Amino acid sequence: MTDIARFRDFVAATARLIAGTTDETTLLTALAPKLAELVGHDDWLPEAYAVAGGEKYRQYLLYADPLERFSIVSFVWGPGQGTPVHDHRVWGLVGVLRGEELSVSYERRPDGTLRAGQPERLRAGQTAAVSPQIGDIHAISNGLADRSSISIHVYGGNIGRIRRAVFDAETGAAKDFISGYSNDTVPNLWPDRNTA
Ligand SMILES: [Fe+2]
Repeated sequence: MTDIARFRDFVAATARLIAGTTDETTLLTALAPKLAELVGHDDWLPEAYAVAGGEKYRQYLLYADPLERFSIVSFVWGPGQGTPVHDHRVWGLVGVLRGEELSVSYERRPDGTLRAGQPERLRAGQTAAVSPQIGDIHAISNGLADRSSISIHVYGGNIGRIRRAVFDAETGAAKDFISGYSNDTVPNLWPDRNTA
């Protein structure tokens, strides 16, 4: 049994914070500890949104704000799986729920090529931020070779519908992409018939 109430509370807290400020730094500073608390407990993610894909990582939409101010996605990385180098165009917060992940940030040089930073290892319960203001280009991969890892990402838009870019890590060449989502249904946040 999973307890979706923990996630529902996080959705409500995110909506409240977004309604309360338009300042990105203020928002991320307030939201990061709430995401850290959410991913500090691995007892709420329904199994259907924790299944790894055979060939490619999965990105399951867990919640999309009807006004597309934010979306929440579970990323499931099988062994050896990871993203290409990509950007977001909106702020994003990443929190590791299960396992570990490796994150490499990239800076764009004036000639358009990319400079990779040091790989950062994020462990369960830890969070990291991206945004056009603070650095928006990165690649993420499973930090464990022998099992799946899962991270929960919050974005300042409906990330699956945003036109953004993947980059060739060698040349820096950008290619448009829209990620979409791996699922057609989302978790029921209100499963208890007895909830008044
Ligand atoms: Fe990303």
